[in-house]
Amino acid sequence: MKTLSSILLISASLITALPSFAADYTIKFSHVVAPNTPKGRAADLFARLVDERTQGRVKVEVFPNSQLYNDNKVLEAMRLSSSRTTGIIAAPSLSKFVKFSKKLQAFDLPYLFNDLDDVHTLIDSPLMASMTQGLDKKGLQALTVWDNGMKVFSVKGDKALKNAPADFKGKKFRIQSSNIAASMIEHLGGTPQKLPFKEVYTALGQGIVDGQENTWSNIHSKKFHEVQDFISVSNHSYLGYLLVVSNEFWSNLPEDIRHTMTVALQDATLANREYAAEADTSDRKKVEAAGFAKVVDMSKAERNSWRQVTSPVWAQFRDEIGGELIDGIKQLLGHK
Ligand code: SIN
Repeated sequence: MKTLSSILLISASLITALPSFAADYTIKFSHVVAPNTPKGRAADLFARLVDERTQGRVKVEVFPNSQLYNDNKVLEAMRLSSSRTTGIIAAPSLSKFVKFSKKLQAFDLPYLFNDLDDVHTLIDSPLMASMTQGLDKKGLQALTVWDNGMKVFSVKGDKALKNAPADFKGKKFRIQSSNIAASMIEHLGGTPQKLPFKEVYTALGQGIVDGQENTWSNIHSKKFHEVQDFISVSNHSYLGYLLVVSNEFWSNLPEDIRHTMTVALQDATLANREYAAEADTSDRKKVEAAGFAKVVDMSKAERNSWRQVTSPVWAQFRDEIGGELIDGIKQLLGHK
């Protein structure tokens, strides 16, 4: 089995051997997070592997920090582009695909996953293909799923979020464009507000919203902890990404190039899982050491009470997502 270090070693040894050619294909890889995050690092690795393994025939240019597009705009740009030599790859979070797939909303269900191992059990199962089915008819080719991590809640105020709904009452929370996240916040007792990722820091700093839910790497890399007072380690849901490319661009690539890129994506996915596991521990430590927001663990009873108050969200979205799919996932993950 390939390991991350073997991928990096082969990659390093190829660097000196590369002849330089003008690229036949250019791919703009657009994402919204910082380069030093699990997605940012995996995107950079993917670009390097593709460059080396196609001997420069394919150039992947990575645009982090919403430099090129935000997540909603990138999908439109990808679908509208008709170039056969310049393509776009994007990696919006699974929550941002609601317009394209109702089934992918299952990833947002609160307390579906206990940890990233549970997530990988689903992603690596045949159920995953059924969840991305139909994207091709909307012009998108699903490539792979990358992790960020489990989400925690941060808030400004005089105490940490522990008791729901009491501690959420009267507070606004920034969420992604996910209807499930909106309903979850309402059941927890707060008011949801959908905002693009690049507006979150300012919205927190200016008090437009009181809190937000995100992973340790996003909180740390975007300094959310510097404008928040408490972080509750809720691990209530998952943040991961679906990598997509225009179906037309992808299917018109020469077979050998498509194959090389597919293998590079598999290697970058393996690396991404390691980066995410690493960030989950190290970025939490950095946030704690910075001393701005106080990090508060949650007891099993507190976790169970949040699980209970958010459980109606499952029934609310069951028909939209598909009852059979939800039952299949529950069975796969050993939910009672
Ligand atoms: C991302 O991690 O790509 C952004 C997540 C968010 O919008 O909160």
